[in-house]
Formats: sequence, structure tokens, C-alpha cells
Amino acid sequence: MDDMLLKLDNLPESRAKLPMYHKIKITVNVAISLNGYISGPGGKRVVISDRVDLERVNDLRAKSDAILVGANTIVNDNPELKIHDSTNRKHARIVLDRKLKIPESSNVLDGTCRTMIFTSNAKRKLKGADLVIMNDDSLGIGNIMAKIEETGIGSLLVEGGSIVINEFISEGIIDDFFIYIGNVILPEDGIKLFRPNMEIRNIIVERKNFGEGILLRIDPLKLVSNA
Ligand SMILES: NC(=O)c1ccc[n+]([C@@H]2O[C@H](COP(=O)([O-])OP(=O)(O)OC[C@H]3O[C@@H](n4cnc5c(N)ncnc54)[C@H](OP(=O)(O)O)[C@@H]3O)[C@@H](O)[C@H]2O)c1
Repeated sequence: MDDMLLKLDNLPESRAKLPMYHKIKITVNVAISLNGYISGPGGKRVVISDRVDLERVNDLRAKSDAILVGANTIVNDNPELKIHDSTNRKHARIVLDRKLKIPESSNVLDGTCRTMIFTSNAKRKLKGADLVIMNDDSLGIGNIMAKIEETGIGSLLVEGGSIVINEFISEGIIDDFFIYIGNVILPEDGIKLFRPNMEIRNIIVERKNFGEGILLRIDPLKLVSNA
């Protein structure tokens, strides 16, 4: 596969101007419909990526030490967040779950690789994960990234959903940002990637036809400065 867009060390030029808050390399990858939705009504899981794009996402995961998602993504989609490859390289799964609401049956608790959950709920126990309990006020992305950095993780793939991705955008610490636009239109009561009142222009640094959709690489710095 042409992996021009997968070279994680090939950053947009403007990234160099961003102060280094953390040493961890942060990549965001998300799939949206033609009309900008990441999920169906009520957060219902929908397939947006085609087979070719799923292979690309697997490659991105394989190049990352950890994959991070929000609690709603676990509740709605129940992803395994696994890498399918022959190397058996272990990666970590990280879930941001303030109230610790994900069910015990969640696939990320299957014990096949390390799962860390950032929460402020010290009352509930959950098997299959390392709970990182922090004060509610401390659960900002900056503090969470500092804790993740302490574990030795050097590269992080943020996969969603919208709430979590927008927190990373606001923090201004994203190194690389991929959006796959799938060949599908979703109902208007789903979850949008970007807030409706954002007016941001000229953010695309690379684009290409990819499988049945379009792959965009966008400049995360422009998102921050215009948000
Ligand atoms: N198309 C794609 O590529 C893609 C990828 C992933 C997910 N999705 C879709 O995204 C949907 C969910 O998106 P979403 O925006 O509703 O939710 P989300 O980003 O998956 O999760 C948000 C939740 O995570 C918790 N959280 C967020 N930031 C936190 C922090 N700093 N510390 C602790 N907890 C934190 C909060 O839980 P509390 O409510 O407890 O505060 C928050 O409600 C799913 O339905 C899924 O289908 C799509």
C-alpha cells in the first residue's frame, strides 16, 4: 500500500512552531461521513471506513504505543482496540472515563493487553484495567498526558469520539491529524466531528483518493489557532 500518509515523522511544517508540552507523539485519526458525522443517531456505531481504510488504521495503530478513546466510544461501539499483525507487539489501550461508566463486559477489559482508565470515580472496581484515579478538576488533557508520559508511552493514537478529539484540539498538542471521508451520508441527528460554530479555513495539507473515500491530512495548529 502507498504509505505516503502514514509516515508519522513527516509532520506538517507548522508543527515545528508549536511549543513542546509533552514528548509523546500524538496522532488523531477519525472517519467521517460526507456530511461530517462520526456516528449515527444517539451515537449509534456506523461503518464509515472501507476495507482499505481499515488496513490504514491498523497500520497507524501498529506504529503507536497506545490507542486512546473516550468512554462513550466504549459504551456505544465496544471496540477491541487491537492491532491485527503478525508481530504480536503489545500496545496499551487508554480510556477517558470520568464517572467510570463502561460496562464490565467491555472488550477493552479482555486482558489481552494493558488497559488504563482515567477516572475520578474511586468507588467502583473494574477487572481488566489499571485505574488511574484523579480529582475531577485534574482530569484535563494536559494532566492526563503527563501521567501517560510517566508510563513510558512515546506515541499515542487518539481515535475519538468527538468530545475527546475536541479536548485534544483545544489543548493544542496534536502532532498529526487524519480524517477519512467515507462514501456515505448519515442522518442529521448523529454526532458531528466539529462543532457547528467553528469557522476554520485552509487546514488541509494533503489529500488523496483512498479506497472508496478521501483521506485528508490536516494541520492541527490551524485548528487550534482558529478555534
Ligand atoms: N468515526 C470514527 O472514526 C469514530 C471513532 C471513535 C468513536 N466514534 C463515535 O463517537 C461516538 C462517541 O463520541 P462522543 O463525542 O459522544 O464521546 P467520546 O469522546 O467517545 O467520550 C466522551 C466521554 O469520555 C469521558 N471523557 C472525556 N474527556 C475526559 C477526560 N478528560 N477525563 C475523563 N473522562 C473524559 C466523558 O465521560 P463522562 O460522561 O463520564 O464525563 C465523556 O462523556 C461513539 O458513538 C462512536 O460511534 C467514531
